[in-house]
Amino acid sequence: MTMPSLRSGRLWLRPVTSADMGRIVSLVGNFQVVRNLGRVPHPYTMADAKWWVNQTAAFQEDGERAVAIDDGTGMIGAVSLGSPGEQASLGYWLGEPYWGSGYMSEAVGTLVDWFFKTSGETEILSSALDENTGSIKVLTKTGFKAAGPKPLFIPSRAKTLPATAFRLQRSDFERRKTAA
Ligand SMILES: CC(C)(COP(=O)(O)OP(=O)(O)OC[C@H]1O[C@@H](n2cnc3c(N)ncnc32)[C@H](O)[C@@H]1OP(=O)(O)O)[C@@H](O)C(=O)NCCC(=O)NCCS
Repeated sequence: MTMPSLRSGRLWLRPVTSADMGRIVSLVGNFQVVRNLGRVPHPYTMADAKWWVNQTAAFQEDGERAVAIDDGTGMIGAVSLGSPGEQASLGYWLGEPYWGSGYMSEAVGTLVDWFFKTSGETEILSSALDENTGSIKVLTKTGFKAAGPKPLFIPSRAKTLPATAFRLQRSDFERRKTAA
């Protein structure tokens, strides 16, 4: 699947490039970001960023359906719908300096809208640590509903923590969009 370049109110969602690697290392290298993420190593190195960028859909035909979030100054975060061939699974991170401005709600809403319009899929999965109030709010604002406990291993903390699986039905997303 080719990932799009999309414009939302204040942001661009665009394919990841090799030039983003330095920003990724400095932003994901922050423990405050990675402490919430499954599957992401800590400390986070240039080799990790290179591996991640190169396995995205920008570089591989069947690569991860991820896009960079860009505020015009460069990459400030990422949103992903997981690997093609698997049910869409939403994951995201935003660099700490950019938290609290509504950016992730905007980015997630824009990518999900594009995905439902172009893919014919009717459901997206996600999950979040129970302690991650901000992320749970992003999910529920988008229309995701809790679907039960799903403990998550966090490599940067070397432990499994309580977490919840979430599901978004296309009809719930559309209903919220119409009401907004
Ligand atoms: C979680 C994260 C994506 C939130 O991004 P953000 O751009 O700050 O989120 P938004 O500004 O869109 O906030 C959405 C809502 O959550 C609330 N919120 C955000 N961070 C919060 C926090 N730490 N505690 C409580 N509420 C929070 C906002 O106030 C907003 O509420 P509102 O719509 O009622 O005003 C960001 O903090 C992040 O990337 N954290 C590290 C990585 C991570 O947790 N990824 C998700 C893994 S599941």
